[in-house]
Amino acid sequence: MLRRLLFAGYERQLNRAYRNRLASRGSTAQGVFWRSQSSQFARFDALLSLVHQLRGDQPTSIADIGCGYGAMLDFISASTAFRQIDYQGVDINRAMIAACKQKFPYQTGVFSTGNKPSSMVNFCLFSGTFNLTHSHDPALWNDYIFTCLDRCMARAQYGLILNLLCAPKAKIQKQIFYASRAAFIQRAETHFGPTHAQTTRHVTGDVSFVITRKS
Ligand SMILES: C[S@@+](CC[C@H](N)C(=O)[O-])C[C@H]1O[C@@H](n2cnc3c(N)ncnc32)[C@H](O)[C@@H]1O
Repeated sequence: MLRRLLFAGYERQLNRAYRNRLASRGSTAQGVFWRSQSSQFARFDALLSLVHQLRGDQPTSIADIGCGYGAMLDFISASTAFRQIDYQGVDINRAMIAACKQKFPYQTGVFSTGNKPSSMVNFCLFSGTFNLTHSHDPALWNDYIFTCLDRCMARAQYGLILNLLCAPKAKIQKQIFYASRAAFIQRAETHFGPTHAQTTRHVTGDVSFVITRKS
């Protein structure tokens, strides 16, 4: 109960920070706190390439959890490699979802406000969703992340694909969460099932994880 309140408090603060940032920087990489569009796209490429490695050219549905203003859909639409992907975007921030709907006026039903897929999907993807935090306690933030992942795993047929910034020891520095790669893998394997990690190409400190279900 106490934890639920604490986590709701984190989300309120996050919502305020992202809403203000979007208002000041607009629908741009900087509008969701990325340093540049190239680091944003390099993350998308890493996550979507993992989907492709697992599914090849088979039709595959994904939910982009923490979709921001919908940049991943732009990235997918511009690439022939990811044509097999059926996309939905979800974000806890209403202003972000309003920006998505404005950017993609003909994509009805694709974007929704929330914290889990609106329907069952093959994979949930998360890019940068858990980097910014208002917590001061890395262990609690890690618990928050697992609560979110749990909820999404219930709507993901095959698993979860996410990125996190990593450091030798989990820490929060200047409101950015850094996970311990080894500890995150261990917890994900115990909690969910086989977990694979790879360093995200062209993004210093970033790691892409694939979490699958125990068979
Ligand atoms: C760093 S931004 C990244 C946006 C987008 N993935 C991109 O790369 O352009 C993180 C986004 O995740 C959203 N978010 C944070 N926690 C979330 C959660 N638990 N569930 C859904 N969305 C969340 C925020 O509102 C924000 O729009």
